[in-house]
Amino acid sequence: MRTRAAVVDEGTKEFEIRELEVDEPRTGEVHVRFVASGLCHSDLHLVDGDLKPRYPMVAGHEGAGIVEAVGPGVTKVAAGDHVVCSFVPSCGSCRYCATGRSSVCDLAANSVIGLFPDGRSRFHGDGRDYGGFCMLGTFSERATVLQHSVVKVDDWLPLETAVLVGCGVPTGWGTAVYAGDVRAGDTVVIYGIGGIGINAVQGAAHAGAKNVVVVDPLEFKRSTALSFGATHAYADAAAAQAAVVEMTRGQGADKALVTVGIVDEDVVSAAFDVIGKGGVVVVTGLANPAKLTVHVSGAVLTLFEKTIKGSLFGSGNPQRDIIKMLDLYQAGTLKLDELVTSRYTLDQVNQGYADLVAGKNIRGVLVHGQ
Ligand SMILES: NC(=O)c1ccc[n+]([C@@H]2O[C@H](COP(=O)([O-])OP(=O)(O)OC[C@H]3O[C@@H](n4cnc5c(N)ncnc54)[C@H](O)[C@@H]3O)[C@@H](O)[C@H]2O)c1
Ligand SMILES: [Zn+2]
Ligand SMILES: [Zn+2]
Repeated sequence: MRTRAAVVDEGTKEFEIRELEVDEPRTGEVHVRFVASGLCHSDLHLVDGDLKPRYPMVAGHEGAGIVEAVGPGVTKVAAGDHVVCSFVPSCGSCRYCATGRSSVCDLAANSVIGLFPDGRSRFHGDGRDYGGFCMLGTFSERATVLQHSVVKVDDWLPLETAVLVGCGVPTGWGTAVYAGDVRAGDTVVIYGIGGIGINAVQGAAHAGAKNVVVVDPLEFKRSTALSFGATHAYADAAAAQAAVVEMTRGQGADKALVTVGIVDEDVVSAAFDVIGKGGVVVVTGLANPAKLTVHVSGAVLTLFEKTIKGSLFGSGNPQRDIIKMLDLYQAGTLKLDELVTSRYTLDQVNQGYADLVAGKNIRGVLVHGQ
């Protein structure tokens, strides 16, 4: 089946739209027609070279659509079902899934390679095999994906909005609620208000944090965060540090959540300094894996019993949390509609990323033609 997709290739400086062929679903696979795809910073890392994928690669990992066909042995969904894709698959049987830690399912090992567990790709063009980012490739109008990557959602939900629970919303919310274990009365500092950080704000507010302090150089991001439950907003880490010392009577924050676009040593050090005894830093933002971005005093780590931890998919369970986020949305306790700043067509994908880089979007969403 033919499709159009935004791809990255060796040497490309931006996403390129190419016509590709998609395989029919094999055993355990489903063919999805994507309705929408969120524009997450992680796809930009593929273009900027922070993450080096196997080329060529169909980008996009935050997607929602309609199942058009299923391969043999698929029991989870049927043709016509509405689905949100999880950028981390859950096989249900690897060591991590079996012990309730499906955010680190072994199947995700192929995310940046983009090939399926059989070592083959599902997209083809110009005589070459194209991977799909996170074994998805949601910047394609259609894709064949593992049934482990999809979660069936209620038909009446608008997929252009529900798409956000494929990455940004559960990743940010879970960074606060699961990885950060934010408790009622906590002081939480969140660095970087994009699609991830804004949902960390929602999660921290939800969990009952007393002070939800955000740091972002952009005024638009700070004012938006305040409308999503942040209590204080600062343009830089030094101003936040001074304010947190004041508001906690010198004790420091309980949790610091790092959700900036490209993590560096400075922001991790600022987060480490802003937490007090027993405090936790969660690093959810990404950087080039070859760069060392955590440089802290081991003595302070020990003497203050501080923790620094990473988090993938908000350390949640995609199968449960994708549904949970949509339930909270329908209950009116989680904002989704307000997260979408702008919508784009597939051909406007580079404009969408220019807007992300310029700091204009909380989340941009690509809506595929029908
Ligand atoms: N761990 C995971 O599971 C996971 C999942 C999705 C995305 N990510 C990563 O999370 C990060 C954020 O993604 P996004 O889509 O929200 O990005 P984004 O570009 O939309 O937002 C990042 C924000 O950080 C701000 N910022 C940049 N440097 C800063 C600094 N030093 N201090 C304070 N604010 C700063 C920017 O102004 C921007 O508002 C990316 O690195 C992305 O790859 C991780
Ligand atoms: Zn993402
Ligand atoms: Zn697994």
